[in-house]
Amino acid sequence: MTGSGGGSAASRPAPAADRGTLPEPEVRAMFDRIARVYDLINTVMTAGLHHQWRRRAADLANVGSGDRVLDVATGTGDLAIELASRVAPGGEVVGSDFSEEMLARARTKAAALTDSAAGRAGATLARREAPELRFEWGNALELPYEDGAFAASTVGFGARNFSDLDRGVAEMARVVKPGGRVVILEITTPQKPPLSTFFRLWFDRIVPVIGKLAGDSQAYDYLPNSVKRFPEPPGLAASMARAGLEDIRWILTAGGIIALHVGSKPAGPVVTSANGTRPR
Ligand SMILES: C[S@@+](CC[C@H](N)C(=O)[O-])C[C@H]1O[C@@H](n2cnc3c(N)ncnc32)[C@H](O)[C@@H]1O
Repeated sequence: MTGSGGGSAASRPAPAADRGTLPEPEVRAMFDRIARVYDLINTVMTAGLHHQWRRRAADLANVGSGDRVLDVATGTGDLAIELASRVAPGGEVVGSDFSEEMLARARTKAAALTDSAAGRAGATLARREAPELRFEWGNALELPYEDGAFAASTVGFGARNFSDLDRGVAEMARVVKPGGRVVILEITTPQKPPLSTFFRLWFDRIVPVIGKLAGDSQAYDYLPNSVKRFPEPPGLAASMARAGLEDIRWILTAGGIIALHVGSKPAGPVVTSANGTRPR
């Protein structure tokens, strides 16, 4: 059947959420809506393992005391908070996101952690040793930071939401200093049974039910489909290479459901002085 506004069920295009793509304003509105249940659902869906994966991502960023790090699409801030412990004392972590509701949760969580650290260690000591942890509004496709402003940039479970993956990865590479790392933590589709069978069952049947229980079926229809349309590890590595990164590698964990990619920005050209020696 053809006719105004439609087509048959067979010919009608699937809604954008079912294809795993949504226009940017809808992605933002969706995360604003689910911000209040996001942490709880994350914990239920991963049996709490997401903290472990974020720790591995923070390790791969290879940052230390005094470094400045950017966590893109930071959401409720868990990866940024994990990174903060690596850059103290004297460092800074900026968590950036375009959902104000997710950022509000991140700020509340960070403030609660600072208060409890102050309670344990004494306010003065905690303030001296704690790194700066800031959460700011920013679109990952147009990061409001200068070239080379950070020692590393990370993104956890955010890249698959970028409406233009290459552009988001290029932005993460741009804001990192020569020699700095870009780390991408993302869900990926396992290729081999039994995990591939479990994964299909989990994402196609269980996750949408969790979404309904959470009162947002669109969001939790979008999630499995956004994972399915996201490139497999070699495809994401190719996007990182197009962004000019080198030494790109990835680690698969959780039976192949989670991929951690890391690449480095090439160190700048070696500067030599007129007499051929390297300035110190
Ligand atoms: C699945 S959540 C991940 C949050 C967090 N990084 C974590 O590890 O749990 C995806 C986040 O990406 C953000 N996001 C998606 N596209 C974005 C964009 N273009 N710019 C900034 N944030 C974006 C959403 O607002 C949301 O907070």
